[in-house]
Amino acid sequence: MIQVADRLQTVEEYYFSKKLREVRGLMAEGKPIINMGIGSPDMAPSKEVLEALVTSLGDDKAHQYQSYQGLPELRNAAANFYKKHFQVEVDSNTELLPLMGSKEGIMHISMAFLNEGDEVLIPNPGYPTYTSVTKLVGAVPKYYGLTQSGSWLPDLEVLEKTDLSKVKLMWLSYPHMPTGANANKEIFEGLVKFAKRNNILLVNDNPYSFVLNEERLSILAVPGAKEVALELNSLSKTFNMAGWRVGFVLGNARFIDAVLKVKSNMDSGMFYGLQKGAVKALELSSKWYSALNKVYQKRRALIFQLADTLGCTYNTDASGMFVWAKLPSEMPSAEAFIDKILYDKSIFITPGTIFGSNGEGYIRFSLCVKEEQIKEAINRF
Ligand SMILES: Cc1ncc(COP(=O)(O)O)c(C=O)c1O
Repeated sequence: MIQVADRLQTVEEYYFSKKLREVRGLMAEGKPIINMGIGSPDMAPSKEVLEALVTSLGDDKAHQYQSYQGLPELRNAAANFYKKHFQVEVDSNTELLPLMGSKEGIMHISMAFLNEGDEVLIPNPGYPTYTSVTKLVGAVPKYYGLTQSGSWLPDLEVLEKTDLSKVKLMWLSYPHMPTGANANKEIFEGLVKFAKRNNILLVNDNPYSFVLNEERLSILAVPGAKEVALELNSLSKTFNMAGWRVGFVLGNARFIDAVLKVKSNMDSGMFYGLQKGAVKALELSSKWYSALNKVYQKRRALIFQLADTLGCTYNTDASGMFVWAKLPSEMPSAEAFIDKILYDKSIFITPGTIFGSNGEGYIRFSLCVKEEQIKEAINRF
């Protein structure tokens, strides 16, 4: 019998891939499921973006292989976007690389920098892909705990007391997924110093910077950060373009070159029309962001009501596309709790445990659900 590679023993099928199959099974049985699980924006991209995609289809080279580094105009648009919104300057030719979503960037960065046995600092709770990719490349996750009492921020004093000799890379994601916690300039400065002291590559994964978030922060805005840090950003959430698969990575030319070395051996450029649409998205005015956030604000107010109905508590100042809520203490485990709601009320909510052990006792509601559906969910209780 042909055996799969050993590395597959280190990972499981992605939680959502499995659970959504179960949810689809319930839908097929006729259950009126309201899916509050996944953060896939349900609204359309801007009209200008769609027009740019459509009109590009007749361009001369629209259907050919594209440059491994993306169109110069896409790199310029992304560099200008970072300058305008994050006050970060990068050379668009050497310090920025378009990606097919930031998720692929997590793999490319890991392939570019990690050797077998290297340790990787991963937030608990945090995006599960950091763990699975670390394992797939033969590196070793070393979790750093985030807690509500610590405002879901890394405790560098505690970290510094641990053995960091094998740590090569540290994942950060602020605004934090799943908790919505925010970092600030001082925290990023502390992290850059920590990374320099310990020779660790810091990667801030920043896809939620424009969702219900007033202060946009980039790790690269810290003076000297480019020596040790990379940042990922994405058009998925900010511009309702999750299915387009467009993101980018920024950092110093040597790091970007290493990522390009991996990426150029894995794909053959991003479809031209997607790049043309992405340019338009990155150039949208502030009206786009305020309209988007108005919708999410209204939805969030309703999700707060739903969370109240369930006896949960939450932070009203959190950012991002989710409400992270603490279950009442008498509740069973988060997974048992969400399964009860799924089977009794046909509502799917994500259990905090899929983001790590520190997610126990918490659930995560997505804001990618229409107001009527949230009202319907409230009515079901
Ligand atoms: C923290 C975090 N990073 C990265 C991603 C992947 O985003 P993209 O669509 O850009 O690949 C997600 C998506 O859910 C996420 O929550």
